[in-house]
Amino acid sequence: MKMLSRLAESNSHGQDSSYFLGWEEYEKNPYHESHNPDGMIQMGLAENQLCFDLLESWLAQNPEPASFRHNGHSVFRDLALFQDYRGLPQFKKAMVSYMSKLRGNRVTFDPAKLVLTAGATSANETLIFCLADPGEAVLLPTPYYPGFDRDLKWRTGAEIVPIKCTSSNGFRITKSALEEAYNSAKKQGLTVKGVLVTNPSNPLGTTLSKDEINLLRTFISSKNIHLISDEIYAGTVFDHPAGFTSVMEPLMSSDKKWANNKDILNRVHIVFSLSKDLGLPGFRVGGIYSNDPMVVSAATKMSSFGLVSAQTQHLLASLLSDHRFMESYITQNQKRLRQRSSMLVSGLKRAGISCLQSNSGLFCWVNMSHLLRTRTLESEMELWKDMVHKVKLNISPGSSCHCSEPGWFRVCFANLSEATLDLAMQRIKDYVDARLNKRSHSSSQCDVLRNSRRVRSLTKWVFRLSFDDKQPEER
Ligand SMILES: Cc1ncc(COP(=O)(O)O)c(C=O)c1O
Repeated sequence: MKMLSRLAESNSHGQDSSYFLGWEEYEKNPYHESHNPDGMIQMGLAENQLCFDLLESWLAQNPEPASFRHNGHSVFRDLALFQDYRGLPQFKKAMVSYMSKLRGNRVTFDPAKLVLTAGATSANETLIFCLADPGEAVLLPTPYYPGFDRDLKWRTGAEIVPIKCTSSNGFRITKSALEEAYNSAKKQGLTVKGVLVTNPSNPLGTTLSKDEINLLRTFISSKNIHLISDEIYAGTVFDHPAGFTSVMEPLMSSDKKWANNKDILNRVHIVFSLSKDLGLPGFRVGGIYSNDPMVVSAATKMSSFGLVSAQTQHLLASLLSDHRFMESYITQNQKRLRQRSSMLVSGLKRAGISCLQSNSGLFCWVNMSHLLRTRTLESEMELWKDMVHKVKLNISPGSSCHCSEPGWFRVCFANLSEATLDLAMQRIKDYVDARLNKRSHSSSQCDVLRNSRRVRSLTKWVFRLSFDDKQPEER
């Protein structure tokens, strides 16, 4: 008899991906300016630490909410006993107003259609539980956030089928890529229940164009499936933020063809979170916005497994309701992200490395394909191991995001200081100079042979995580 469940023993969680392995390597030897200047610099973590000073100064000026008080009275007992899993009304009201603000007030959200969850991780999984049965599939454009293998598949039993996007058009979603993914799922005997996009994209740092949104809308309409848009990075659009279009926007606009189509409206769902724009992943605040009352009702029941604490909701209700502060926070955050992004882009440029042009996110999508020994995922792994062990930088290889083209890496810029970012850029430049020099003397062959066995074992997971490559008993 097996002592543990199949789920507990399965390895489809994705914990052994280089995305997570890089974090483990960092933990062993973290960089510190004075205590460990040769340590590893963490650039594989999409954290936003650029505006903590603003939040801390708001907390100093508004001490009541963090000390369980409201208008001079203690609310400790109310919060300690609060049990309504639909959430604190004042928090939901503040949350929808913030969501509208991020979308230029072009969309209004109804608090009754909001389901609170412990972060976007829980929101994404909950939506899949609501929309798909085990063995049914969701289509995802590649490259995608590595955590989706865990969030969308692991416990739900659903499958991810990639929509293969390529550098030839800046990794944009095309009609043919959508149709190809749909047909590939059908060929594998999978029922497709929806498309999931991240807008803005992790790892690309780009927003969906209006054409892409129209394409997706037409696609889900013709196939009679759902559209989930993970908009966790909505508050990180640093270039022309007014140009950011949420997938919900055209549906609620005056465009009668879509706005009056309740059927489609009910099949579009948004995921949000305060982990990225406010930099509060430790608070575990996120949720689902859906126009379908059935989805809202089912997701609300499921949210019992991952609620946001009443204390956190109380604090954030005050913060988000301070409209003057939030306006200025949003603007400052965008400004600082823009500066950081351009520091990274120009630092990499000095090392002869280019990035996909981005306008959002906490990272750049970086092209290092010219540094590969061969244009293969094995060579990408070799380069990644060099980055981790020689350059002492943790960055995420494109293969961990299921990118089919070797040589792309996600590099984060908002979780470290400017001085550390400068040092990281210097380390990369030194490495590239040395490597290109060495290559011109063609003496790198020995290293490559020595590393090849270790590299092979590391690359196995890259292929295992997609449906095609799983062992039959793992499907
Ligand atoms: C696209 C995307 N969705 C969801 C998450 C998970 O976020 P949370 O901390 O809110 O669970 C992340 C975190 O990096 C992400 O990038």
